Amino acid sequence: MVSDTKTIIGVCCSPRPRKTTYEAVSACLAAAEEIDGVTTRLIELAGKTIGPCLACGICQEGLICGIDDDFGEIIEAFGDPTFAGLIVGTPVYFGMMTAQCKAFLDRCVVFRRNGWMLRDKVAGVLAVGRVRNGGQEQTIQAVRAAMLCQDMICVSDGQPTAHFGATLWSGIEGGLAADKVGLETTRNLGHRVAEMTKRIIML
Ligand SMILES: Cc1cc2nc3c(=O)[nH]c(=O)nc-3n(C[C@H](O)[C@H](O)[C@H](O)COP(=O)(O)O)c2cc1C
Repeated sequence: MVSDTKTIIGVCCSPRPRKTTYEAVSACLAAAEEIDGVTTRLIELAGKTIGPCLACGICQEGLICGIDDDFGEIIEAFGDPTFAGLIVGTPVYFGMMTAQCKAFLDRCVVFRRNGWMLRDKVAGVLAVGRVRNGGQEQTIQAVRAAMLCQDMICVSDGQPTAHFGATLWSGIEGGLAADKVGLETTRNLGHRVAEMTKRIIML
């Protein structure tokens, strides 16, 4: 029997466990869970070893990676038959995603080479910077570029904010919780990804 459950996986690409990006991804997934039938799972890259892709080509031979590190957890998670949506959250580092985020996205080439496993998964991105305009939008766009290469369905943060994803400002007085605008985009993104997973029929 085909399950009606849609699982959205959040990947937190900060090297620091349970800090501001984790807070943001958690808020985004909490919003996603408000949509009926949607369940979520959060994976933190902090504390894991996921090295850069070495282009060894072993993934051309099957759903395996030639690097023996913690990426196996991602292969296992993305193999879940109910997996329908992905939210990637990254801190902004010098106007870009973290090295952990880039390594994760590059290593996902294994899914492209094995039946386009991420095709038609709904994708959303959030970025957390210490300053209000610290490069969140261009960071989001760069992550989305990798998602498009996987034939994923990239969504905005939905109405009424509806731009490129969720942009958060961790340096605001009072911390992330005080960034009302950023948190609104975060919740909207969670809702939008969740709503869209319900509309996509996996063939
Ligand atoms: C190497 C490095 C570069 C950074 N570059 C930027 C930047 O370009 N723009 C910005 O707004 N914040 C920048 N920051 C700040 C982080 O994005 C910010 O503190 C974020 O909240 C960290 O996320 P975390 O708490 O999940 O680790 C940088 C931090 C580091 C360590």
